[in-house]
Amino acid sequence: MASTTIVVLFFLILWVSTTTAYPPPPPIQCPAGTGGCTLQNSYGVWGDRKDCRASNVIYPTTQQQLLSIVANAAKNKLKLKVVSKFSHTIPKFACPADGNSSVLISTQNYNSGIDIDVSALTVTADAGVSLRDLINKVEDAGLSLVAAPYWEGVSVGGVISTGAHGSSWWGKGGAVHDHVMKIDMVVPAKENEGFSKILHLDAKNQLFNAAKVSLGTLGIISKVTLSLVKGFKRSITFNFTDDGGLEDSFMSHAKAHEFGDITWYPSKHTAVYRYDDRVPMTTKGDGTNDFLGFQSNLIVVSKSTRATERKLEKAKNIKGKCAMASSFITYKKLIANGLKNNLIFTGYPVIGRQGKMQTSGSCLYSSSKDIANTCAWDPRIDGLFFYETTAIFPARKFRDFILDVKKLRDLNPDNFCGVDIYNGLLIRFIKASTAYLGQSTDSVVVDFNYYRADSGTTPRLNQDVMEEVEQMAFLKYGARPHWAKNRKVAFSKVEKKYEGFNGFVAAKTKMDPENMFSSEWSDELLFGKKGVDFDGCGLEGECVCSEHRHCSPTNGYFCRSGLVYKEARVCRYSPSSLT
Ligand SMILES: Cc1cc2nc3c(=O)[nH]c(=O)nc-3n(C[C@H](O)[C@H](O)[C@H](O)COP(=O)(O)OP(=O)(O)OC[C@H]3O[C@@H](n4cnc5c(N)ncnc54)[C@H](O)[C@@H]3O)c2cc1C
Ligand SMILES: *[C@@H]1O[C@H](CO)[C@@H](O)[C@H](O)[C@H]1NC(C)=O
Ligand SMILES: *[C@@H]1O[C@H](CO)[C@@H](O)[C@H](O)[C@H]1NC(C)=O
Repeated sequence: MASTTIVVLFFLILWVSTTTAYPPPPPIQCPAGTGGCTLQNSYGVWGDRKDCRASNVIYPTTQQQLLSIVANAAKNKLKLKVVSKFSHTIPKFACPADGNSSVLISTQNYNSGIDIDVSALTVTADAGVSLRDLINKVEDAGLSLVAAPYWEGVSVGGVISTGAHGSSWWGKGGAVHDHVMKIDMVVPAKENEGFSKILHLDAKNQLFNAAKVSLGTLGIISKVTLSLVKGFKRSITFNFTDDGGLEDSFMSHAKAHEFGDITWYPSKHTAVYRYDDRVPMTTKGDGTNDFLGFQSNLIVVSKSTRATERKLEKAKNIKGKCAMASSFITYKKLIANGLKNNLIFTGYPVIGRQGKMQTSGSCLYSSSKDIANTCAWDPRIDGLFFYETTAIFPARKFRDFILDVKKLRDLNPDNFCGVDIYNGLLIRFIKASTAYLGQSTDSVVVDFNYYRADSGTTPRLNQDVMEEVEQMAFLKYGARPHWAKNRKVAFSKVEKKYEGFNGFVAAKTKMDPENMFSSEWSDELLFGKKGVDFDGCGLEGECVCSEHRHCSPTNGYFCRSGLVYKEARVCRYSPSSLT
């Protein structure tokens, strides 16, 4: 079978591929003659597939410049939005208001300061500093940052703004913002204060709980101080095992292993438990976690993987997807999903320093002019293209969610092969937080990626199953969306899901009374403004379907009830049944 050949080729090439890479494209483009700029996320396509435009972009390098930018904007009633050089947030939070008076501020060059206080165990960095630069400096000083997302292509300001996280219920937990000690933020001010000012926020200040996860809507984060610990190593082992009892073991797993997570491949009845514990610096081992999904791939491989998926979609070949998922999982097991004892994986446990084990993203770096390798999703190459659904549950509700997903899976396990081609359902843990837009109780985060079609009007294989899981999470179990991921439907009624929401709005009114840092895009996500209703809106998660025309009747996709969660309304391929 052609797809199997391609998959085999994929592994072979991956095995021998070098580490040279073509770095991601800059997210901001200002083509000459257009009189404006566009902003893209890292996948090159926003949820609504529409461009994000700004009239102008500024690249400040100092805090003084931040003050004058905000003062000038306040004086002239301009709209502002901040974005990092990565722009890795998938929803349109960083998109400035429509019109000719909105300015984008890039923190790309605001990245000179990283100051470590060894005795206080803190690091203070400019908001544009990349997570990797921060971690390297911290580790060089013999210290470690405990929490970070798995992906390192983020800035210090961006990573805390969206509540980004790794996985831990221990100590301060897995979310980066819960390790923040201080934030300096530049906000608009009255004329007699010079139209802008710096707020120095810490735990003694009420506004701090708003500033920690603020989605770019309060002001410009200038500097962030994070708490550190003495340097340590980690010991990681993956246990590929049966998913029986997953609903009963996830809690004890999180309690037993400081950085534990679980990758669940429902179609294969497989759960991969990550036993991941802190070990002393003196433990032998110099390993790296070079997560497979974030390594660079030959462009030809990314393209053929995409082409295979596209072909299987078109032929409605579910078994082909299952074969693809099986090969990928087999390969991941073989190479420990990118864990390396030194240059390659030679056996468990893999032990290495925190700075090399928590976060990765080797596809970000270019070591030559070679342009054969990129991140697999690079928007220039017709490579991987997928949705990213991330739901955050109070821990006590997660058991029933797993049981529901298992029921849905048991109706036909093959329906889940599409997600298992990616990373299955990745289950991670974050601790209760005082951030208004963070999690108020110990929580479980589940992430899953799945095929996105080239066109927003093309329906997808088994899309009803993904939609049912999505609606189970956000509607039945009241899960909250990860702010930096998800399709629009996940943000429905989000303002009612946070006890701290009013506190956040009150702080916003104080810090940015004229809503200078708001746009219709961020308002829509944060306050659930204006529902959309157009033909096909259910296909891309822009709406939950309520009529057949929200799906794709001409292609045989009709709006139907869920199979397990009956209240769900999903677009299902059901051409023969009467409407
Ligand atoms: C491949 C990939 C893997 C990922 N893995 C994870 C993961 O493991 N865990 C996880 O939690 N998340 C993950 N994410 C999401 C990512 O962590 C977040 O999107 C993060 O916010 C991106 O940081 P950034 O610097 O690119 O921020 P941007 O996308 O540039 O900005 C994010 C938000 O913060 C605002 N902002 C940025 N800088 C400032 C500033 N200086 N002042 C005020 N506001 C600011 C922006 O306006 C925007 O609202 C992943 C994303 C991708 C694409
Ligand atoms: C912005 O400016 C362009 C070019 O000057 C103009 O065509 C457009 O109508 C303006 N848009 C708004 C919303 O003012
Ligand atoms: C893997 O998990 C299974 C099921 O929990 C357990 O029986 C087995 O001992 C584990 N293997 C290792 C190497 O820990």
